[in-house]
Amino acid sequence: MFENYLKESLIGKAIDKKILSIDIVNIRDYALGKAKSVDDYVYGGGSGMLMQVKPIVDCYRDIVKDRKVPTYYLSPRGKLFDQSSAVSMAKFEEIVFICGHYEGIDERAIILTGAKEISIGDFVLTGGELPCMVVIDTMARFVDGVLSNSESVTDESFSNFLLEYPQYSRPSDFEGYKVPEILLSGDHKKVEEWRKEKSLEITKANRPDLYEKYIENN
Ligand code: ADE
Repeated sequence: MFENYLKESLIGKAIDKKILSIDIVNIRDYALGKAKSVDDYVYGGGSGMLMQVKPIVDCYRDIVKDRKVPTYYLSPRGKLFDQSSAVSMAKFEEIVFICGHYEGIDERAIILTGAKEISIGDFVLTGGELPCMVVIDTMARFVDGVLSNSESVTDESFSNFLLEYPQYSRPSDFEGYKVPEILLSGDHKKVEEWRKEKSLEITKANRPDLYEKYIENN
């Protein structure tokens, strides 16, 4: 799941340039017994299977050795991940992500690895891999050298609680749909004002919660 995505994306380019490195470890390599199992029934009953504590903890200890590495477990139960979490997490030299499957992982694996639980939204996916890639991708944009200057992170959605204004490229008229006159005027001050106004309008309409935050902070 990870390899194709990491090869094809901007993350892949950053890996080639040695700005980032990502090691993917398969928990199955730490499977138990002849059956090579990594999951088992849930004590107390309930549907589905749970990832067992030992393969996860063995794997984790093998990775971190005696270092202290910030560790996150992707889970719908976690604290909500957002742009500002990405900015803070991107400052870490190293980070470990644990991706669960089935019904999740044994609670003791969370305690013994010291993992913080993070969620990418109020919905449930079949495993932690996609959320993990979402988190890695979001964080990577804040690592120096991953984006080129022209792909700046300063003026985009969520910087200062506003969503991004509409943008246009050539042609200036497509099937009668024209680019707003002001953007062709060359008047930078007017363009800035128009963009701000549109950002406010879109944020208020789509994300009243963000709009509130903007008002509180400005
Ligand atoms: N695993 C399953 N659903 C998830 C979510 N919403 N966020 C993070 N990890 C998950």
